[in-house]
Amino acid sequence: MGLCESWEAHASEWIEWARAAGHDSYWRFHRDQFLRLLPPPGRRTVDIGCGEGRLTRHLKSLGHAVVGIDASPSLVAAARAFDPSMDVRLADAAALPLEDASVDLAVAFMSLHDIDAMSSAVREIVRVLDPCGRLCLAIVHPINSSGHFETSEAHSPFVIKGDYLRAFSYSESIERDGLSMTFHSKHRPLESYFCALEGAGMVVEALREPSVPDHAVSTNAGRRWQRLPLFLHLRARRA
Ligand SMILES: C[S@@+](CC[C@H](N)C(=O)[O-])C[C@H]1O[C@@H](n2cnc3c(N)ncnc32)[C@H](O)[C@@H]1O
Repeated sequence: MGLCESWEAHASEWIEWARAAGHDSYWRFHRDQFLRLLPPPGRRTVDIGCGEGRLTRHLKSLGHAVVGIDASPSLVAAARAFDPSMDVRLADAAALPLEDASVDLAVAFMSLHDIDAMSSAVREIVRVLDPCGRLCLAIVHPINSSGHFETSEAHSPFVIKGDYLRAFSYSESIERDGLSMTFHSKHRPLESYFCALEGAGMVVEALREPSVPDHAVSTNAGRRWQRLPLFLHLRARRA
């Protein structure tokens, strides 16, 4: 099963998980940290791998003329049902239903590590970007996906037992506060993302490794992610 079929298989779990206010990092700190990298709204913004549409709706509320793209029929249907005025399209990120140079901002928030054909998706994003356009992306930090903490103590060692430099698929089932979700993703070394951007003619102009802010940490396990990055954010433009 490919990653996009796995997301479709877990769509109903994801809708509940993603929409539960305050439940995941998106609500507690991640969205607002990511938004700091974005240029102001322009002609058109595309949200790649928009899922059930929480960020797409937020971008709209901030004044972006936004189109959401996702390959999961159930998530696209949920996004449309939540706000029928939204332009949400069922498509693969590697074959966008958009004209060349028709958007000035592409956002890929927590989706490229969930997309099998990541390099093709990046090429396709660049095709639809205006020459002055920007791509802003957030991914699971490759350090995070390459290993794990040995214990839940704040100073627990972080161990990489496999190969950081090798790409591999992984799944993680999480149960928290009465909700469960199984994430299917792909670990890739940082170089894979930079090679995809470089191959598509993009350069990175800003990069962040956001840590978990104090207000979002309530346990020792949470404090571990003040030592290592959970996520990676970057903004890229044409070379
Ligand atoms: C972690 S979810 C992120 C959803 C949304 N950006 C958010 O933060 O709420 C990853 C998304 O990538 C989508 N996805 C996976 N493969 C895809 C592909 N080939 N093309 C477009 N979307 C894809 C999944 O369906 C899923 O909605």
